[in-house]
Amino acid sequence: MKTKRIAVVTGGMGGLGEAICRRLAKEGNQVIATYSPSNQNAKEWVAKQKAEGFDFLTAMIDVADYDSCSKGVMKIVTDVGGIDILVNNAGITRDTTLKKMTHEQWREVMQTNLDSVFNMSKNVLHGMLEQQWGRIINISSVNGQKGAFGQTNYSAAKAGVHGFTKALALEVANKGITVNTVSPGYIGTKMVMAIPQDVLNDKILPQIPVGRLGQPDEVAGLVAYLCGDEAAFVTGANIAINGGQHMM
Ligand code: CAA
Ligand code: NAP
Repeated sequence: MKTKRIAVVTGGMGGLGEAICRRLAKEGNQVIATYSPSNQNAKEWVAKQKAEGFDFLTAMIDVADYDSCSKGVMKIVTDVGGIDILVNNAGITRDTTLKKMTHEQWREVMQTNLDSVFNMSKNVLHGMLEQQWGRIINISSVNGQKGAFGQTNYSAAKAGVHGFTKALALEVANKGITVNTVSPGYIGTKMVMAIPQDVLNDKILPQIPVGRLGQPDEVAGLVAYLCGDEAAFVTGANIAINGGQHMM
């Protein structure tokens, strides 16, 4: 019999993922941080978190690959007894103008940022339906709402994420399961630090009325709220957290 809620955070060792894992752990959940097959630092990450008081479980799952998600979820369920909370957070960029974009750059982003949401949610949903309780949080982006120069692939995938959220939210609304999208603006993680410095300073920062990048902890706080019992009436929502960059 599990005593804590089990929360799976995909890409849990990345900039936003780590903050979400830590916040959900502080709220009393048992957190499982998933990492990609290319991650060579998982053990070190776990040790560092442990030294700072966080006891995370981990699972290697390639979110772009359906079989990997299916096997990974099955193993987690067998090991810990079920999944209550799923945060679909893993994602990548392959920024370039459409003129220069290769089919591979399009495909990689669609598979990692959109197919992943199907791959994980599909495998987790069955257990949530059985227990009549669940939380699915999909991390989209301000650029899925407003578009972004050099991101036809990313903007399309992230917009698709919210379409998925709304449709699934309808399907499970009367089953104790909520499905929501969180759309962060520019947050200071390695994804944003990869933007050319002049583009960040001259084109992006001036568009953010609050006048700074967001912090991973700010997004984590919002995700934690949506994961709790208090948020039972919030479903199918797309909650922006973008420093005023895009208001709808
Ligand atoms: N808005 C308007 N014009 C832009 C622009 C922008 N954001 N970025 C570039 N341009 C212009 C350039 O000024 C240049 O204009 P000129 O031809 O008149 O000189 C033209 O577009 C071509 O620019 P580049 O030569 O830089 O083109 P490139 O193909 O080498 O690079 C790019 C284009 C890859 C898109 C590069 O500009 C870039 O990386 N931009 C950042 C894209 C971005 O914001 N990504 C977000 C990553 S973080 C994230 O995705 C997280 C999240 O969800 C928020
Ligand atoms: P990040 O630090 O680069 O982290 C990305 C995470 O995605 C990494 O942990 C990585 O796992 C994981 N990942 C990538 N490909 C994967 C795959 N095939 N299988 C499993 N995991 C994979 O970026 P971040 O800023 O934290 O981004 C997290 C999420 O927030 C993404 O969905 C991103 O699009 C979204 N977002 C970010 C911002 C921002 O400004 N930073 C804004 C809006 C939305 P490994 O480390 O294990 O390889």
